[in-house]
Amino acid sequence: MNKKRSFASDNWSGVCPEIMQALVEVNADHNPAYGELEDPANKAAIEKFKSHFGENISVFFVYNGTAANVLGVGQLMHSYHAVVTAKTAHINEDECAAPEKFLGSKIIEIETDDGKITANQVKPFLKSIGFQHHAQPKVISISQVTEMGTIYTADEIRELADFAHDNNMFLHLDGARIANATVALNTDFKSITTDTGVDVLSFGGTKNGLMFGEAVVFFNKELAKDFEYFRKQGMQLHSKMRYISVQFDRYLSDNLWKTNALAANKMAQRLATSLAQFSALHITQEVKANGLFVLMPEELITKLQKEYFFHIWNESPKDEMGRKEVRLMCSWDTTEEDIEGFVKLLKQYLK
Ligand SMILES: Cc1ncc(COP(=O)(O)O)c(C=O)c1O
Repeated sequence: MNKKRSFASDNWSGVCPEIMQALVEVNADHNPAYGELEDPANKAAIEKFKSHFGENISVFFVYNGTAANVLGVGQLMHSYHAVVTAKTAHINEDECAAPEKFLGSKIIEIETDDGKITANQVKPFLKSIGFQHHAQPKVISISQVTEMGTIYTADEIRELADFAHDNNMFLHLDGARIANATVALNTDFKSITTDTGVDVLSFGGTKNGLMFGEAVVFFNKELAKDFEYFRKQGMQLHSKMRYISVQFDRYLSDNLWKTNALAANKMAQRLATSLAQFSALHITQEVKANGLFVLMPEELITKLQKEYFFHIWNESPKDEMGRKEVRLMCSWDTTEEDIEGFVKLLKQYLK
């Protein structure tokens, strides 16, 4: 067993060879910094985004997903506004209160079983609108794939966007894993974003083969007005911008995003099929993309983690058998051997 393999997260994997090659190639001569002065790398990447999402978008590169979420959402609101999102959302639970600190805004969380929210669940919070003592709900934020491995259909996204717009709100989509969702739905990026009425998208790539970098995509240029100043003030203007741009240019060419996401999703299906033979385990969410959520006995978790690391997702025992929920993530580079190795360990410990 190679101890350096894991199911911890899709950003534990390395950079895919095509992206590494693109980075090597761009690492020559001089190039305008900050994406300025018609920087060819930046221009090419933005053109690629337009070919996938349509001409009427504005794209800005940042370092990471937390920044894409905070700045993308922050562009649409004042500090007296609120973001409505699932309790499990990354923006709510895993950003160390960056939105609260940098935007000074309230996050309203909705309890869910599967990480997905509906317009009906947002509706009760609308009673605050117009009441000067309450933060004003302004942005609905959803994740695609969700933090529970589930996926919104295009119709579900459209319903939330329509609901947001009918109530003078915006829809933000955290697409840290949008490639995995897109291939799982057997669709394209545009059909689940531009065409559904999403206002701003955090477009991720780090979990699908990039080294670093995210994109904030606005679907209405008016909404992007002055965002470059907000990004700079938010400390997210990368000076050697070409190293982000070139990755997105390559990622969005020749279906690289699709190849990587299909590989990760396929391995998650393979893992789910293999785990079904063990009665001591129970998969809690339908496996749609590249993540599995699994109830496991605690002593088994401890033994497995020593050899093949993964995260406990919920520390509280989830059932009468005292099993805890863990998350097993597959990456663009997860192999059949990884799965076989993991299953071999399970057989050894569960016999
Ligand atoms: C749903 C989701 N959104 C955003 C992010 C991006 O986070 P980071 O700031 O680590 O790039 C992650 C990473 O774990 C994520 O899972």
